[in-house]
Amino acid sequence: MKIRLLPLTILSGVLWCSTPAGWGQTPPVAGNRNALAIEALGRLKGMDLEANPALKAKVLKVLESTRGTPDFVRIVQDFNLAGQNAGLLELALAHPREETGIEALRLILASHDVAVVTAALGNTNTAVRMAEALGNTGEKEVVPMLLPLVEDGHQDLAARKQAVRSLAQIQSGATELLSLAAADKLPTELKFTATTELNQVRWPELKAKAGEVLPLPQGRNTEALPPVTELLKRTGDPGQGSKVFERPDVGCNNCHRVNDRGTDLGPALSEIGTKLGKDALYEAILEPSSGIAFGFEAWTLELNSGDEAYGLIVSETADELTLKNVKGIPSRIKKSDIAKRQQMKLSLMPAGLQQAMSTQDLVDLVEYLATLKKPAK
Ligand code: HEC
Repeated sequence: MKIRLLPLTILSGVLWCSTPAGWGQTPPVAGNRNALAIEALGRLKGMDLEANPALKAKVLKVLESTRGTPDFVRIVQDFNLAGQNAGLLELALAHPREETGIEALRLILASHDVAVVTAALGNTNTAVRMAEALGNTGEKEVVPMLLPLVEDGHQDLAARKQAVRSLAQIQSGATELLSLAAADKLPTELKFTATTELNQVRWPELKAKAGEVLPLPQGRNTEALPPVTELLKRTGDPGQGSKVFERPDVGCNNCHRVNDRGTDLGPALSEIGTKLGKDALYEAILEPSSGIAFGFEAWTLELNSGDEAYGLIVSETADELTLKNVKGIPSRIKKSDIAKRQQMKLSLMPAGLQQAMSTQDLVDLVEYLATLKKPAK
């Protein structure tokens, strides 16, 4: 109990010395006080506010001062505050691909306020961002919210395409899209997006079905790929290779960083030419699962809610872990919400990336990677 009294005293002190009008306008001193109040709240986490109306009023005051910031989401979460969906929606729409926005949307979904979500999907100014954030929650309950957008030709096309991309991220969503395609009910204007997305999904049966009902257009690889022994004899153009690396349909830089460009999901490749020879580079691209880099193993978590989370476990404490999904977005998951966790034998790096490349593109790409070396001292 003593431990709890201390932050409570700080909080009361902090709040009592500040005039209500001071919140939000924050002169420097009030700003510090506010930081202190937020921190004190963190330590009161989980307290039952209904039993303590005075404390509740204070918490709500601090909450108001954190609007639009990650602290807002944390406070709503820590104290299980109802009625905060307007503030949460703001955050979800401002940060549809960041942890804060996605956590905010998860809290809205948990409140079962579907109307807030459908209103944002129906508004051209917010539809794309809402559709994207919904997909990033990975929760299967968003599938019935997104499907009507796919079918309704009167809605904004950009939002409908985003809805397709978001649905393809969720197993039951991908299944629904494939059923529409198989029944020839997928609107023509969405076929290209659906084809690209569904041929990349990580569920083998769905990927196979996508190959049947929405085959990829014959791409750049009209020629069968020669064996690696043959490829090793060719020389590429590293300048061209660096362009292939960043090409959106190849997408290496969506997961890898080279120096200060790209994304940190997979290992940084700035010095990969020192670590791997050309033969190993070919293998890493053509068979990503043949040797998975240490610390980059993919996991599937089955959640008690019935949802599934997939990605890299980037940190873990006694009662929660942080999982980074394939887009590099982290989310914190309570261990008590996990029914089962399983390490995958398949790499998070998709197989078949060479299909978006000609043989020459691949040779150029490997040539480029081979030039990425530790600077000589
Ligand atoms: C969806 C994310 C993703 C994409 C796209 C992707 N990779 Fe990877 N890549 C990873 C992950 C995760 C690993 C580590 C696990 C493993 O080794 O399989 C990895 C590993 C590698 C490695 C081995 C690194 C090491 O240190 O051993 C190389 C080389 C590599 N990728 C090159 C590429 C190239 C080239 C492309 C584009 C053609 C590409 N990757 C596209 C996620 C991705």
